Amino acid sequence: MQPYVVTIASEKGGVGKTTLATNLAIYLKALREDLAVTLFSFDNHFSVDQMFRIGSEKPRGTVFDLLLGRPLPELVATGEFGVQYIPSSLRLPELRPRLRDPSLLASLLGRSGLGGILIIDTRPDLDEFTANALFAADRVIVPVKDTPSLENTRRLYRFFEHHDLPKQALRILPCLVDSRIRYQDGPFENPYQLLKAYALNRGYRCMEGFIAKSPKVESLNTNPEGKVYPVLTHGRGTEVHLQLAHLARQVILDADACEDRRLDSWLRQEQDEIRRRQLEHRQRLERVAFRCLACGKALPTAGLEAFYLENSDGRLAGFVESPCLTDLVFSSVYRNRQGDADSGLRDMFLESALRSYFVLSGPEPDRLVFHRFDEDGRILSSKTLTTGGGFFGRSRPPLTQFWERLRDRLGDDDFLLLRRGVPGQAEDLLANRPYRDFCRTRQLVSMQLSSRAHD
Ligand SMILES: Nc1ncnc2c1ncn2[C@@H]1O[C@H](COP(=O)(O)OP(=O)(O)OP(=O)(O)O)[C@@H](O)[C@H]1O
Ligand SMILES: [Mg+2]
Repeated sequence: MQPYVVTIASEKGGVGKTTLATNLAIYLKALREDLAVTLFSFDNHFSVDQMFRIGSEKPRGTVFDLLLGRPLPELVATGEFGVQYIPSSLRLPELRPRLRDPSLLASLLGRSGLGGILIIDTRPDLDEFTANALFAADRVIVPVKDTPSLENTRRLYRFFEHHDLPKQALRILPCLVDSRIRYQDGPFENPYQLLKAYALNRGYRCMEGFIAKSPKVESLNTNPEGKVYPVLTHGRGTEVHLQLAHLARQVILDADACEDRRLDSWLRQEQDEIRRRQLEHRQRLERVAFRCLACGKALPTAGLEAFYLENSDGRLAGFVESPCLTDLVFSSVYRNRQGDADSGLRDMFLESALRSYFVLSGPEPDRLVFHRFDEDGRILSSKTLTTGGGFFGRSRPPLTQFWERLRDRLGDDDFLLLRRGVPGQAEDLLANRPYRDFCRTRQLVSMQLSSRAHD
């Protein structure tokens, strides 16, 4: 079974996230010795390491390595109190671009073979790391200490909505609550009741209870040994001890009751998505006739040296071999520059074609326009060819003949978009990512051409 993932998150700093995450791990282990409890932090304060490291052993890896895909068993260290932890890292910011997709961590954890309960401590920021920790979570505990930190919770809810995640995973926990404060007037006796009412009023669910502010707990971070001491061993006399024990019991009950773990459902979703993309890719390959649209020659289904072409709605799709298209363009647009003498120019054209899109459009019956677009869908150049009759006294340019042969398969105001594939693997343009880029460019091209038509 996948681990039950508990993420501690709040955009507000200093609300007790790390204290909660580290101590919760210890209480879980104390309540159920045979439960594997693992913890890591995206925070760079090293509190996790200070609390759990045994001796001065050098870590075998860190959360940095976890996010690079190193197998989890190689990184997990068994620390104090039997809690497994992955050491922290100062190098995390280097990985931001890699984590733009919030599902990366869930995919890595889902294949890690980890069981039990996993606790993830986060930074006070809804950045890429927190987003990944939220995405992977069965339960998100959100410590709030006052109304501003409660207001900040709204962004976490929006994140869940945006990614279509179940919002019941989110639970508010009032933390650092000063239990000495009593309100004389009004419906609420103390800050805990007030925060809880505020939360419920906004439709937020809460964990049972709260974590009180305790000078003793605060002092556990400050000692000559440079350790962070747990409440279980050094703060037993505090009310926080009982509150953490109560919280840990809730987490164990919730974990026991949760049969369909988030990582299981994510892996299923990921598999479905992979199958769907494979099917779409296959369907695209089946739709394309492997025959050069210019010369009619049969083409292999792999190892293609060609341009891929589609019209504006994708009904017409196929390949034109690179030499054929180069001939068409050179004989029509760059005026008859065929032959060996121009092989340098042809090479240049083919090379630059890897970073361009070409468009053929016939805005009027006797006009064909050959455009070059950049990869961001901006027009770089346009050349107009007349389609009817002769062309400077010669026969009609081959490119216009090519256009006219396809014309009856095109709609009004239609265009053809062409993209050169990687040499020898042009068929890969039909794979999901390159095809998505192709379609995106097609949309940009379509917008530009129609705005030109209205100018
Ligand atoms: N229950 C508590 N009673 C008193 N002090 C506490 C309690 N919990 C945490 N603290 C103290 O509050 C400070 C902030 O706690 P902690 O580092 O856990 O917060 P955080 O939310 O992780 O902060 P950051 O957002 O900076 O990561 C620390 O000095 C810690 O010792
Ligand atoms: Mg912290």
